Amino acid sequence: MMEWTDRHCRYFLRQLSHHCLLYTEMMTTAALLHGNPGRLLQFDPAEHPVALQLGGSQPDELAEAARIGEAHGYDEINLNLGCPSDRVQFGRFGACLMAEPERVATCITAMRRAVALPVSVKTRIGIDAQDSYEHLYRFVDRLAQAGCSTFIVHARKAILTGLSPKENRNIPELKYDYVYRLKQDFPVLEIILNGGVSNLDDATAQLGHVDGIMLGREAYHNPYLLAEVDGRFFNDNHPLPTRAGIVQRMLPYIERELQAGAELKHITRHMLGLFQGVPGARAWRRHLSHHGPRAGAGTEVILAALEAVAEVGARDHDSAEIMQHHA
Ligand SMILES: Cc1cc2nc3c(=O)[nH]c(=O)nc-3n(C[C@H](O)[C@H](O)[C@H](O)COP(=O)(O)O)c2cc1C
Repeated sequence: MMEWTDRHCRYFLRQLSHHCLLYTEMMTTAALLHGNPGRLLQFDPAEHPVALQLGGSQPDELAEAARIGEAHGYDEINLNLGCPSDRVQFGRFGACLMAEPERVATCITAMRRAVALPVSVKTRIGIDAQDSYEHLYRFVDRLAQAGCSTFIVHARKAILTGLSPKENRNIPELKYDYVYRLKQDFPVLEIILNGGVSNLDDATAQLGHVDGIMLGREAYHNPYLLAEVDGRFFNDNHPLPTRAGIVQRMLPYIERELQAGAELKHITRHMLGLFQGVPGARAWRRHLSHHGPRAGAGTEVILAALEAVAEVGARDHDSAEIMQHHA
């Protein structure tokens, strides 16, 4: 997710689940081929498995960008066919490519020839008036012929004029039945459902219909939900880390990154939701938001934020005891 799942975010999320597949932000072929790929693609080995998402529409450029991604050690190359932003449409990639299945098939073929890694796509269920199931079926069928076997499907269409990217993530109706039908019609393809899944019970229910679930906003705003993923979906029952334990695990990484020139706020901004839904959530967020951006801020800010959380917990505990006493 652009501006969200940068390498600091992914390192943090990886502390919560060892097994889920993490995705980069979309990287355009222009940025990779004409910018500084070393800086853009840098990641910590602890982030594995991690997929590089590309945005582009020129087969040769996508092939080259995929090759660069493979050389940097990514585990999968994913092509964005779902982004509706004006800038992306201007570049003729993202969701508007759903109108050009032949071009996308050529891109997939070129990328698959260029790398040994799996090449997947992330798509919508349609765009504008091209929103029938039959249209989606033909699109997926064409890309499958080109050798794509993993489809992550955001179960909304994109409306390419008149809606902002944010509105395009909320306003078009979720049609999960389209994604379920894809799995029925293409049982050999890996079909991953995305869009509006906000808890793991919901994810479990969806897995009755599809091969996997991609979580976007919920994983970012309420990352602790990922702590249960390994036990529930990957049969890895290691002890559940506590939220404070996750913070402790981040400290050596943060020290290292600060020494290498990062600013604390670049990392802590991704950790603000860690205590979401438990006492102290607000104190944690407030402390980090207030003190994190100060020049020279270091891990002491995080330790103080943890203390602020513990204080709220202790206060809640005391008041609960007082209530019991009076009951
Ligand atoms: C801030 C933000 C940035 C996003 N950037 C990307 C992106 O770079 N590539 C992509 O495929 N989807 C991107 N998305 C869309 C999400 O991947 C996902 O498809 C969408 O939010 C619906 O899933 P959710 O309901 O689980 O969040 C972005 C979403 C948000 C909120």
